[in-house]
Amino acid sequence: MYRRYLDQLNTQTTQLISEQQQLAQKTKMSAEPEYKKIPVDELWAKLSAASDCKSLLKKHLTLERYEALKDKKTSIGGDLGDCIQSGCMNLDSGVGIYACDPEGYDTFALVLDEVIKDYHKVDKVWHPAPCFGDMDNLDLGDLDPNNEMIVSTRVRVGRSHTGFPFPPAASKDQRKAMEKMTVEALNTLEGELKGKYFSLETMNKEEEKQLIADHFLFKNDDRFLREAGGYNFWPVGRGIYFSEDKKFLTWINEEDHLRFISMQMGGDLGAVYKRLVKALGKLSEKLKFAHNDKCGYVTFCPTNLGTTCRASVHIKVPKLAAAPSTKGNKSKLEDICAEYNLQPRGIHGEHTESVGGVYDISNKRRLGLSELDAIMEMKNGILEVMKAEKAL
Ligand code: ADP
Ligand code: ARG
Repeated sequence: MYRRYLDQLNTQTTQLISEQQQLAQKTKMSAEPEYKKIPVDELWAKLSAASDCKSLLKKHLTLERYEALKDKKTSIGGDLGDCIQSGCMNLDSGVGIYACDPEGYDTFALVLDEVIKDYHKVDKVWHPAPCFGDMDNLDLGDLDPNNEMIVSTRVRVGRSHTGFPFPPAASKDQRKAMEKMTVEALNTLEGELKGKYFSLETMNKEEEKQLIADHFLFKNDDRFLREAGGYNFWPVGRGIYFSEDKKFLTWINEEDHLRFISMQMGGDLGAVYKRLVKALGKLSEKLKFAHNDKCGYVTFCPTNLGTTCRASVHIKVPKLAAAPSTKGNKSKLEDICAEYNLQPRGIHGEHTESVGGVYDISNKRRLGLSELDAIMEMKNGILEVMKAEKAL
């Protein structure tokens, strides 16, 4: 009986993969230029001349590796330039490299593997099978039951549709096809996940501004992503889905094809995580996400591979942020984040500043550990941050 169920599931999955691949082919128009490609030798000249660049790209793209990779192409034509243009044109990048397309993780492994190992702190580029934990018995609890420090909690994952390329190679029609199939899947959600899709192409500007200010919606002002082709054909194929209470959200065609998000006010990590896992279970019956043993869930940026999970809190830590580090020109907050593999960001997301001592603090590593381990890494680190703030 169980065997028959598994066989049926396998047939459904194979069918889904093949349908998505056919759709990607059908909507792949001839190249529609939007993203201005800079010759790879010009990019290399800029990077190799930059003596004060601290990116992982600069660290790992040696002359020898550059020579070995500069003429390689993936089967859909992705090249080294597509991967490194952002990091070469933005020498202040922390990472500086994206994958031109999913196959790029193999074609350009000579440099990408080194970046991945360095960022996720692993010895080998390999990812375990997904493991979200036993939802019936998992008790992550509320990190701040008395509402003293945590303003809100959010967990997000990224996903790519099998068969479809990443931003540098995605056509306008492929973006629209991905939007359509995702909205069809989202419209099957029920109960607390039931909601509505809002396209960025038709959304009124006031509403868009408010959704951004309230931390729900993405914007198109990230120069790193822009230079990687992330805003090609903006706002075509982009939009946001949210449940009636705005606690479950989906971003379509921002940096990744998909970002699934669960968030709410306060510190109840358990409730936030469980909601996300429930949505992922339902949606994976309708959509086929790109996944393999090397990268886990495959995403555009190497920092998001594996679990793709970023669990964050907006937390008030004014004392820690103001206290000097014992190790050089940093704050105590940065020390504690480094010690517990956490990443501090500003209040409006990546590359923004803190406001009023409130920081976005999340797990930094996503690959080489399970979803549950990534969440536990965040939980344990945040509890330490809270303890340290209270002790000052
Ligand atoms: P991502 O998390 O998808 O990598 P960003 O860092 O740009 O992207 O964050 C996206 C948005 O999510 C921003 O508006 C940010 O303020 C918001 N956000 C992140 N974490 C939280 C949180 N714990 N509570 C509320 N909003 C959050
Ligand atoms: N490319 C940018 C950098 O190197 C961002 C890297 C991680 N963030 C992301 N949104 N993928 O600084």
